[in-house]
Amino acid sequence: MEKHRKYIIAGNWKLNKTAGESVELSESVVKEVGDQSNVEVVLCPPFTSLDAVSTALEDSPVKLGAQNMHPSASGAYTGEISAEMLRYFYATYVILGHSERRKQFQESDAFINEKVLAAFANNLKPILCVGETLEQREADQTLEVVDTQIRGGLVNLPEKDAETLVIAYEPVWAIGTGKTATPEMAQEVHASIRNILTDLFGDEVAQKVRIQYGGSMNPGNAKELLFQPDIDGGLIGGAALDAKSFAEIVNAARALEEE
Ligand code: PGA
Repeated sequence: MEKHRKYIIAGNWKLNKTAGESVELSESVVKEVGDQSNVEVVLCPPFTSLDAVSTALEDSPVKLGAQNMHPSASGAYTGEISAEMLRYFYATYVILGHSERRKQFQESDAFINEKVLAAFANNLKPILCVGETLEQREADQTLEVVDTQIRGGLVNLPEKDAETLVIAYEPVWAIGTGKTATPEMAQEVHASIRNILTDLFGDEVAQKVRIQYGGSMNPGNAKELLFQPDIDGGLIGGAALDAKSFAEIVNAARALEEE
């Protein structure tokens, strides 16, 4: 299939796995996924596992990501972690603005924007999460919500950084619920996200940005979602905690890449 963007499949482990368990899971993923380069694979373990997982991934093409960070370089922010601290363990990506953080930790678009800029300033690529709640979808506000989150999260982002950005569209009602957006529903939002990016950065940049779908993606629905023209990967929660399921999703992307 003709898609000029490389698929990116990332596992968001959330609050799961001790460092020891994380090494086991990473090693299984590396074994299951194998030595391939046509799909980008990223693991995002908890902070306490970054060091160990970084070592476990050393000789593999699988990349390391974090689940969050603070925008400041240092200071009186008890319990927080900076971009530089993540880079020390060779993290390539960082998930920012996940709906769980927006909801449970009241993260605003302005705060997430500070993180996006700080990530780029430290050579970390953000995976910026956006998505509507069930209430918002039912009130027909999906596109408006996503528009606000994207524009708010990307204020002052230079064009040269924008092209390496990853966006994850994650309808909140689909996260961890087993309910998935239909491929058509997801594609509609992904296409409008790309239009917003075109408006902000021009068509050339917008065509390079990868937009992942997230929310109960699993081996059973991955292929039809990834087949959509503007779906360039997945941000996987539950199914990423099982190496075989996660690898099956990677293989679905790989199969489409080779078609
Ligand atoms: P899920 O989580 O795959 O378990 O729905 C996705 C996410 O929250 O990133």
